[in-house]
Amino acid sequence: MKLKQTYVCEQCGVTSPKWVGQCPDCASWNSMVEQITPIRSSGNKGYAAATGEQVVKLSDVQLTVEARIATGLNELDRVLGGGLVGDSVVLIGGDPGIGKSTLLIQTLCHLSQTHPALYVTGEESLQQVTLRARRLELPQDQLNLLAETQVERIIAIAEKSSPKVLVIDSVQTLHTELLSSAPGGVSQVRESAAQLVRFAKSKGVALFLVGHVTKEGMLAGPRVLEHMVDAVLYFEGERDSRFRVIRAVKNRFGAVNELGIFAMTDRGLRQVNNPSAIFLSHYETAISGSVIMVSWEGSRPLLVEVQALVDETHLGNPRRVTVGLEQNRLAMLLAVLHRHGGVATFTHDVFVNVVGGIKVSETGADLAQIVAVLSSLRNKPISSDTVVFGEVGLAGEIRPVQSGQERLREAAKHGFKRAIVPKANMPKGGVDGMEVVGVKHIQDALGHF
Ligand code: TYD
Ligand code: MG
Repeated sequence: MKLKQTYVCEQCGVTSPKWVGQCPDCASWNSMVEQITPIRSSGNKGYAAATGEQVVKLSDVQLTVEARIATGLNELDRVLGGGLVGDSVVLIGGDPGIGKSTLLIQTLCHLSQTHPALYVTGEESLQQVTLRARRLELPQDQLNLLAETQVERIIAIAEKSSPKVLVIDSVQTLHTELLSSAPGGVSQVRESAAQLVRFAKSKGVALFLVGHVTKEGMLAGPRVLEHMVDAVLYFEGERDSRFRVIRAVKNRFGAVNELGIFAMTDRGLRQVNNPSAIFLSHYETAISGSVIMVSWEGSRPLLVEVQALVDETHLGNPRRVTVGLEQNRLAMLLAVLHRHGGVATFTHDVFVNVVGGIKVSETGADLAQIVAVLSSLRNKPISSDTVVFGEVGLAGEIRPVQSGQERLREAAKHGFKRAIVPKANMPKGGVDGMEVVGVKHIQDALGHF
């Protein structure tokens, strides 16, 4: 295989035959990184899909049922879309110390009982990995370990021991002899990962790649890894909290935004089987600025607490800060609150936070944000047995969200007595033990608080 060396811009992807300080296309500085392109005579052997040359009818394509392997952790199976697919490549990202290695050593020790498995560690020594497995009392007799960072050697060894499941912890430590740049660089990581993906696809190996997330929230270096792999799972949540949330942000074999919820204990990660209320803080008395919403994550409801703090601004520009929610959405909601609800906040800083470090990206959080802001602004607590959800439109209308009934039933199960929800989400027969109030416009909603 002949190789050609080129440079590619990390920002816009433009390629150039030689290195330049400024990208000729998007004009960003220092964004060109080395990459190698194999010059192949024909065909694209790197991807699983490129198998035939003929055009086939959609109805004639023979489907093979993907065999799913149970990982031993139901919550991980859930994020993977019902278990690990035989020859899939899964990228697991997250902050250092959040529990990626712990999760994978637990999974692999379990899987190795039924499938040949190889755990390649580039960060921790064999002793450290073993120590952890011993401490967690995991079954250790079947798992193969390898401490290696050079990708060609990893592949050569993997070819000999032919594992069915392979873990690389982590991609940032990989390097390939094809490139001269330093290990850890974007091009090294990308090229090494690409070789492993090709290997996994051609041999039918399930591959887990571990990647660290940098401060900017990107997988250090290659966001590009995301499109090479079948599934991308991110750890969410705060390191200080006990709970760890894994979210599927991409999954070719299942639903995205599905959450898996774990607790970090002194015996490793334990799955939380009934997680819907774990993020609530249970105050003795209601406090202002805090409201409970029922969010819908993947395929199940989750009760989360939205907190707002509204304070007089001392700067020219009032601040709008969100943690776990989208900032632009908050700015929009404050405009709606002013224009259609008659409540102005332009002399106030507004901070909104989702308790527990979890991210809520659905629009069902709109009403909760508005209610929390209002409660803080007026210093008027919201009764702690009330839940809200609903999307807010630019005209001030309250729009329905998906799975309204299930959300309400979940809240009722946890003892909530009152719900303020979009009128179109009102259940016909009502919900046992709960007063459900349907609202159509932000004006109606504000009247209830
Ligand atoms: P680790 O899996 O090493 O994180 P990553 O690979 O994502 O960098 O997680 C290490 C953290 O988890 C560390 O702070 C200690 C904690 N931990 C426990 O609390 N209990 C345990 O049983 C284990 C193994 C780790
Ligand atoms: Mg680790």
